[in-house]
Amino acid sequence: MISTDILVLGSGSAGLFFALQVAKRSKLRIHIITKKERSESNTNYAQGGIASVMNEHDSYESHIRDTLIAGAGLCHEDAVRVLVEEGPQRIQDLIDLGTQFTHDESGKLHLGKEGGHSANRIVHTRDLTGKEIERSLLSAIASHPQITLLEDHFAVELLTDHQRIDKKKRKKDPITCYGAYILDEKSGKVEIVRAKKAVMLATGGAGQVYLHTTNPMIATADGVAMGYRAGAVVGNLEFIQFHPTTLYAEGARSFLISEAVRGAGGILRNLAGERFMAEYDPFRMELAPRDIVARAIDAELKHRGEQYVLLDISHLPAEKIKKEFPNIYEKCKLFGIDITKDPIPVVPAAHYSCGGVVTDLVGRTNLSNLYACGEVTMTGVHGANRLASNSLLESLVFSYRAANDLTDSLKTRPKEEEKVKLVEWDDSGTENAEEWVVIEHDRREVQQLMWDYVGIVRSTYRLKRSERRLKLISEEIEAYYRKTKVTVPLLELRNITLAALLIVRSALKRKESRGLHYMTDYPEPKPALGKKDTILQKKV
Ligand code: FAD
Ligand code: SIN
Repeated sequence: MISTDILVLGSGSAGLFFALQVAKRSKLRIHIITKKERSESNTNYAQGGIASVMNEHDSYESHIRDTLIAGAGLCHEDAVRVLVEEGPQRIQDLIDLGTQFTHDESGKLHLGKEGGHSANRIVHTRDLTGKEIERSLLSAIASHPQITLLEDHFAVELLTDHQRIDKKKRKKDPITCYGAYILDEKSGKVEIVRAKKAVMLATGGAGQVYLHTTNPMIATADGVAMGYRAGAVVGNLEFIQFHPTTLYAEGARSFLISEAVRGAGGILRNLAGERFMAEYDPFRMELAPRDIVARAIDAELKHRGEQYVLLDISHLPAEKIKKEFPNIYEKCKLFGIDITKDPIPVVPAAHYSCGGVVTDLVGRTNLSNLYACGEVTMTGVHGANRLASNSLLESLVFSYRAANDLTDSLKTRPKEEEKVKLVEWDDSGTENAEEWVVIEHDRREVQQLMWDYVGIVRSTYRLKRSERRLKLISEEIEAYYRKTKVTVPLLELRNITLAALLIVRSALKRKESRGLHYMTDYPEPKPALGKKDTILQKKV
């Protein structure tokens, strides 16, 4: 067993920034657990940048308004205000930590533009912003004496009162979190990591629930699934954001073509050469919020029976394109596309989960001692549709606030909780997994089902059909999980399937179309549902 003060699950921007802030304010020992190599995270692939009000041509009110408009009536305005007003300071924190952002010729931060923003406010490092943020945070962690980072360690379950040896003393409400069961992927053993003060859930997104996604393989909704199983409240899971433009090419695995490309003047055309956005959003055109652009592309493809649309920036000077989008330029070149001359074939893909584990404004969940931050959460800032580049910002602003809350409240935390004894992981009687092919097949089946039936356009009929199938798959997986020694593929499949079911159940609860959730049988938003989050909680 490992014993520590703070257990952080995940090494993306949320987990790393949180750990650094806690270490700055206290002498606490912090263990960061991450399931693959340390930089592997959604953060590492972020392209466009971080939205923030950085000069006198912009204002907080404008950024707040843009966020609320994109969120289609479901944002929590208090959370949005916090996000926007504390953003510039968090960008400064990154700069102080050594993050190198792109500057213009006058030496000021270069501010890009993206869909739904009424000003240039995207702070970025060319089209490799996430990589640079991850680099700078990891290098600050590497030399920190209070922080230990363990790679190839997979969080299996949160430890709560249910795993107390003295079950009689178990509290009912609120449930307390004491740590997590962690699988050491090299040894195959599951151990307890005991956190005396708090656990931070920062496990990121859920893109792998879908067949086509911009997210890397780690994004398997582990945090939402673990949180839900432990009794955490989850919310607004129906709002899955589909990014309108990912590269359509054999083997490209939904590589993202950043919204910044449209921000720089990129034009969308169908294969007949028509600039179709004029039909869907005549004023904002290519820079309408993502839900509108993704739906427009989807409609265009279905209507015309085509496989992709074209995104063209070849009218910009070649040098400018290569300088601002080196990553996209190089990647497309590998597929025989010279973006300085050719249009880019693009299709939408699952990109971001707006819902998640519900937190308050300082990252607290409904479980005592369990914080959450980053993409795994629902803080209220995104509502029914996230505004571009607001998520890296959310991960920084709310992890900073959680670190403050945690270190400020240390003196009032009950000391007896630190002595609670927990039941060890017991896998006696289980067998080694033999049916690998079944696991791979099930994963693919869930992803295909979600892509076909729970995508950009939904209907009650399709949702119910997918719910029935997912329930069956989920029951099979649970049975398999109980009799088999755990492995990463099995644990991920279990989490993906549960998250898929929760997405479908949330979608079925929302009997209207709003933001990212478009239902053919309820094509309009319903004002009565406008302010209601979709909440799910397991009885434990
Ligand atoms: P992540 O960065 O995903 O980190 C999660 C961490 O948890 C990872 O280290 C992972 O390995 C670990 N983990 C997960 N499950 C477990 C487990 N069971 N056990 C142990 N460890 C676990 N947002 C913007 O604001 N601007 C952008 O320009 C932008 N571009 C994007 C481009 C792409 C291609 C993608 C995929 C996303 C983009 N986003 C962007 C979204 C943004 O990157 C993410 O929302 C944000 O980085 C999430 O940070 P996070 O720390 O919450 O999660
Ligand atoms: C992008 O670069 O288009 C991604 C931005 C985001 O997801 O916020």
